[in-house]
Amino acid sequence: MNAELEYRSANLGDCDEILRLRNQKDSLKFQLFAEPIAPDTHKSWFSDRLVRLPREPFLVFLSDNTIIGYCRADRKDNSTYKVSISLDPLHQGRGIGTTMLNIMVREASLVGATLVAYVHKENVASGRIFKKCGFQIDHTITDKCFDTYKRNLINNPGN
Ligand SMILES: CC(C)(COP(=O)(O)OP(=O)(O)OC[C@H]1O[C@@H](n2cnc3c(N)ncnc32)[C@H](O)[C@@H]1OP(=O)(O)O)[C@@H](O)C(=O)NCCC(=O)NCCS
Repeated sequence: MNAELEYRSANLGDCDEILRLRNQKDSLKFQLFAEPIAPDTHKSWFSDRLVRLPREPFLVFLSDNTIIGYCRADRKDNSTYKVSISLDPLHQGRGIGTTMLNIMVREASLVGATLVAYVHKENVASGRIFKKCGFQIDHTITDKCFDTYKRNLINNPGN
């Protein structure tokens, strides 16, 4: 399913669309920082992220040449990358999020990394896609609101 999903690396022109997806109302409550990000703050973070960290995967996904979602992996230390993912609500619930995350896993396996994601315990769809894409909850890390999902790609390359 979604074999035809188009994607490419994010570029500076995608700034506003990425912010719109990040700030979408229904998902704010599931974010580690649960407030909308201001346009100016986002703009400087986004350009810095693309220019300073060009090799860290930051993918945008398209339908009819329009961005419908993004998935990126930000380096936390030498081998650990934190995954963020967001899909336009109009396209949710049809397997696209799973396809996006599988593509990210494939890209990240090229750099060799342990992927980590912090998933709100009430975010059922997100927990489900991370499990479907081979992530497991690290039960050694306990938090009231968030589960830590991990997938080690260093010795176990992605599909
Ligand atoms: C997380 C997100 C990317 C998932 O995208 P999606 O395209 O809807 O996901 P998929 O359709 O591939 O898979 C969703 C799975 O969750 C299941 N699901 C969704 N809501 C559910 C619910 N309330 N109860 C039970 N299962 C649910 C679906 O049935 C599906 O599982 P299945 O394939 O086994 O049937 C999307 O919901 C999103 O962008 N959310 C807002 C941002 C966000 O929360 N990001 C994650 C931060 S860690």
